Amino acid sequence: MSDFPPVGRPHLHFRSCDSTNEIARGLAAAGSGTGTLVTSDEQTAGRGRQGRPWTTPPGALAYSVVLRGPVEIPSTVPLRAGVAVCEAVESLGADRAMVKWPNDIWIEGRKCAGILVEGRPQDGWAVIGIGLNVDVASEDFDPEFRDRVTSVFGDRAPVVSPGRGLTEATGALNASLEKWLDAPVDDVLAELGSRNALEGREISWQGGSGIAAGIGDTGDLHVNLADGTIINLDAGEVHLNV
Ligand code: BTN
Repeated sequence: MSDFPPVGRPHLHFRSCDSTNEIARGLAAAGSGTGTLVTSDEQTAGRGRQGRPWTTPPGALAYSVVLRGPVEIPSTVPLRAGVAVCEAVESLGADRAMVKWPNDIWIEGRKCAGILVEGRPQDGWAVIGIGLNVDVASEDFDPEFRDRVTSVFGDRAPVVSPGRGLTEATGALNASLEKWLDAPVDDVLAELGSRNALEGREISWQGGSGIAAGIGDTGDLHVNLADGTIINLDAGEVHLNV
């Protein structure tokens, strides 16, 4: 039996809030423990990676959980969260889910979830924020991204009532995070390796391009350059050259 604290207890749910990460950060700073969960059906100031805004349309879930304790640097938390979200969406019936480095979750090449880990290592806490498209009608996605995103329950009009799908998705994330946050790091890296959506694909980033290889044990992406050298990307955004 694991003594990892239950993920999802206590649980605060909002119909609407500014950002579940913001609320969870406040709770963490005030001393809330590992597993404290904040969810919302809507966010008015959701945050994405690299300072981008994040919208939560009807049928999407905003989910943020507090972790407390010594934070390793570099942290394996984003890697653990990635494999946990993949497994959670598959447990809900989705096709094979993959991690698009560094922290997008793809089903059939389209983004169904994004992860934003924020924290204060010096104060011993972090927050894992997950934006998951559970059962979003395609017309509710921003037209700019519509052809690049999808939902756990597919790219169609929702058939599951949003409330029910969101409750199931919350339970699936809780169970999967509880497993992967406590798993041996080698297991996490092996699972991540088998879910690396970019491996062998031609990618580009600001300042370069190459063929993506594996993900290293600090979460860096190895890339083979045309001149035969191998570099490690440790942050930023990469794009598939299709
Ligand atoms: C990304 O840019 O892909 C990461 C998106 C993370 C969004 C989630 S939704 C729940 C939590 N609250 C936020 O404000 N952001 C994260």
